Amino acid sequence: MTRDTTWLKELLLRRQSGYSLEQPFYTSPLIFNYDMEQLFFREWLYVIPACQLPRHGSYFSYSLGPYRVLIVRGKDDTIRAFHNTCRHRGSMLCQQDQGQMARIVCPYHQWTYELDGRLLWARDMPSDFDLPQHGLKAINCRDLNGLVYICLADEAPDFEAFSQLAAPYLQVHDLQNARVAHTSTIVEKANWKLVWENNRECYHCESNHPSLCRSFPLDPEVAGVRPDGSTPERLQAHFTRCEDAGVPAQFRIDEDGQYRLARMPLQGNAVSYTLDGEAGVKRPLGHVGLPDAGTLMKFHYPSTWGHFLPDQSMTFRVTPIGPMETAVTTTWLVHKDAVEGVDYDLDRLTTVWLHTNDEDRVVVENNQRGIESPAYVPGPYSPEQESGVSQFVDWYCERLRTGQPMSQIAIHQS
Ligand code: FES
Ligand code: FE
Repeated sequence: MTRDTTWLKELLLRRQSGYSLEQPFYTSPLIFNYDMEQLFFREWLYVIPACQLPRHGSYFSYSLGPYRVLIVRGKDDTIRAFHNTCRHRGSMLCQQDQGQMARIVCPYHQWTYELDGRLLWARDMPSDFDLPQHGLKAINCRDLNGLVYICLADEAPDFEAFSQLAAPYLQVHDLQNARVAHTSTIVEKANWKLVWENNRECYHCESNHPSLCRSFPLDPEVAGVRPDGSTPERLQAHFTRCEDAGVPAQFRIDEDGQYRLARMPLQGNAVSYTLDGEAGVKRPLGHVGLPDAGTLMKFHYPSTWGHFLPDQSMTFRVTPIGPMETAVTTTWLVHKDAVEGVDYDLDRLTTVWLHTNDEDRVVVENNQRGIESPAYVPGPYSPEQESGVSQFVDWYCERLRTGQPMSQIAIHQS
């Protein structure tokens, strides 16, 4: 069915670059649905670190809009993703968020699947019942140096360009030998784009993030992206020092701006995100041979950003729940042999970002509430402080302009 989305096209056409979006982009259920169809149901999405599935049969179930996804480590060690929907009458297979199983057994009538998705057994079905035709429906799934990505589209977009760019940066962090030290999910009562906009600038940091500012620099170029793609000298000097030490650091952004990698310096003498700036874990995760290498900052729209440090790594996942509700999941990773209470103190490890996430929730929810006012009109971004926000919003609008829903608009108008 063709949908009349002329109004959305008009909103995009009259958008002023360098300004925040008009209210419906942050409130409309219709635009939220487009965002999901156009971006979240089509793009590669980061879900979990591979180490969250430590053994054969370890699984994680993830909900995104109407989709129920089951990610499981097989007996061959391969991580696969399936629709968490039984091929008999569609029951959800795994109800728990995560766990351990020998086989995938449907709780309804006990159809039983192998960990690789093959249907093994279906009770009292006819003798000519075709088991192989009723295996679980697979979802595109990739393990990128210990980061599990999925793509819900039947035909996934290219992943190679991103994985080739990102692999050397991630390799030194050795996420295959990581363990989850802590996971936190918070729900922010705000549109997912406001979560991202807030993430892409540090204009708000000084007055909102007292803990983070002890280690994270206020240099706007750290969060931002120069429109001409150039790198300031002070950052280039840091990248060069890291690269000379064998640690990939150079600022890289893909052509359409969907992902970026850069190893940014931290504030002063800080080497990690702790209140005193010292390492949070004695037994480091990875082999970054430069203690003050800073943080590898990786963003990959629309689902994830991350910080990868010489002692620990942190991944963040963005899950839209509704037009004005978004879950943000943070996962702290340490070396698999690091012992809590000996090599690290969990409070010390997590304090800065638990505070920071909650402070971000407050400002983002306030942003949402203010935008809901009839008095709201788009406002100008600071070119110095908010180049990263501009970059994100430009990327988003371009995707909406060029994606399939907009093609439907063209068909509708002809
Ligand atoms: Fe799964 Fe019947 S719905 S076995
Ligand atoms: Fe913040």
